[in-house]
Amino acid sequence: LTTAQKALACFEPRLSKVVDLIFDKIIRQLFGNDISLPGNITQPCQNTQHGDFQCNAAMPTFAYLKKQQGSSSEYKSPQDVAQAIVQSVGSEHPILMDLQVNGPGFVLCRLQPTYLEQHINGWLSAGKLPFPPISQNETCVVDFSSPNIAKEMHVGHLRSTIIGESVCRVLEAAGHYVHRVNHVGDWGTQFGMLIQYLKEEYPHVIDQDNDGTLPNISDLTEFYKNAKARFDADADFKKTSQTNVVELQSGDPQCLKIWKMLCDVSRLEFEKVYQRLDVNVKECGESFYNPKIPAVIEEFEKAGRLSIEEGGAKCVFVEGMKVPLMLQKSDGGYGYDSTDMAALKYRLFELKADRIIAITDLGQNDHFKLVFAGGKEIGWLQGGQRLKHIGFGTVNGEDGKRFKTRSGETVRLVDLLDESVSRMESKLRERIQEGKANITEEEVHEVAEAIGYGAVKYYDLRRNPTSSYKFSYDEMLSTSGDTAVYLLYARVRLESIAAKAKAEFNVDVEDLLRHQHPIKITHPSERNLVLHLQKYADVMEQTLDDLYPYHICDYVYKLANAASEFVTKCRVLGDPEMSNRLLLCHATTLAMHQCFDLLGIRHIKRI
Ligand code: ARG
Repeated sequence: LTTAQKALACFEPRLSKVVDLIFDKIIRQLFGNDISLPGNITQPCQNTQHGDFQCNAAMPTFAYLKKQQGSSSEYKSPQDVAQAIVQSVGSEHPILMDLQVNGPGFVLCRLQPTYLEQHINGWLSAGKLPFPPISQNETCVVDFSSPNIAKEMHVGHLRSTIIGESVCRVLEAAGHYVHRVNHVGDWGTQFGMLIQYLKEEYPHVIDQDNDGTLPNISDLTEFYKNAKARFDADADFKKTSQTNVVELQSGDPQCLKIWKMLCDVSRLEFEKVYQRLDVNVKECGESFYNPKIPAVIEEFEKAGRLSIEEGGAKCVFVEGMKVPLMLQKSDGGYGYDSTDMAALKYRLFELKADRIIAITDLGQNDHFKLVFAGGKEIGWLQGGQRLKHIGFGTVNGEDGKRFKTRSGETVRLVDLLDESVSRMESKLRERIQEGKANITEEEVHEVAEAIGYGAVKYYDLRRNPTSSYKFSYDEMLSTSGDTAVYLLYARVRLESIAAKAKAEFNVDVEDLLRHQHPIKITHPSERNLVLHLQKYADVMEQTLDDLYPYHICDYVYKLANAASEFVTKCRVLGDPEMSNRLLLCHATTLAMHQCFDLLGIRHIKRI
């Protein structure tokens, strides 16, 4: 290796990149610089019995040589090429070892333990596991949660909230700037009836003298339902409601005041959920874009892209889509499409977003396709900005149908969270009674909240968002299997080993860290754990690319399993390798800590 390569291998946190680079260099040295190779010539081995990584470049290299040299080539098969690569790496490579040719010409290899040690010791002294380097700091907009005013947040909004929060955390951890946007549905025709209903039911609130006291609407969903019932049943009510919409949109002070009250009441409800879930999102709702819509319509008109449909609706047809974007309805009103086009323009040109991510149910796939295509066709994406819609599936009940309460109502989010916490509380109390717990009665609630909310989040995040899933408290709160409960317990167990080492053996991990006591690999289970730990940066790179937090869940779950195998097979306390192994436990908890942070799961010290 050249010095530059060695330096890169030291500073490059992505194992896959390091291995790729080594093989790429060797192949070029052997077969010439002009050879064109596929993007990733190496990949981690599926079956780690045979190796850590596998290089797949012998086949395309052989094809290249055959084309260049025909039958005069000294290499008669991909295996010959693979063999040459193996020989060229040799047996004293600083990073690779145990090279062997497999099957039609795959090259299997392992990483040198000294290299793995060097990496992990570097992280221990840095106190954290590294993210992959980014080529530039991007401005990102993540549009998530986004419930609708005067309607209850439902399970779908829960998914958006949980996924969105995690996506923001990942982007921020990489060093990007993130606008966390709550695109609340705070505009639209439904406000006509809501305003009218409030006027009738809460006359004192709209009184001139009211100093800003909000109407005491305990149940907004109920309020919405009642207003809707009045709207459907009473022709006069319906008429005034429609007038209210026009008045609201033209800025009538009283209508605006009532509208604002409704938004405020809703906001208080949303905030409660965000607080419980440690979610940070800033409201910038549909109403914000309303004044920006005419300019967007004008831009499309000037570009000759506007089609006036029968009845006068202003539409934009985009390639490959049957339904057009509706920028203005035939009655002159603006709808969901209009707002989202104005929002897109604002985010691109005012916020200067390089990357925009919107997170909603899968049902809105076509809507976002249309909006993004519209933006592309009008020329807004010439800076190479990336737009992405993350669509998620439904949450179903045990019966496989949409998640409902026993009486058939949609499940209120707060009830779902309450239930998760209260079940966890009972479990913890049982543990206390059985004498297994390390917490007191006073701590039960706080711990149950951390685990209960963490469990709800993890249960969602651990899968591909497009999949629908069955909601099961029992599965979600199980202490075994791929659950937050299992992971949080696993971490506490590792921490308790460190606590025992300090109390019983007078060995303090903090001291070891301070003195830079190095980790040495002495057992296959240790090696396995260290190797898995070092996949962190690769996993983060993948997550930064497709923004699916399930990669992180997958990683942390496998990590917990590798750690559990390690502590089963390797004695830590009292062993000659105790210091070494304590540090390995510490590195694992460090990685778990970081993963929990990225997933939005709170930490617990004791259970
Ligand atoms: N309020 C919408 C809903 O409840 C989600 C909004 C998503 N964001 C957007 N820019 N359209 O489904």
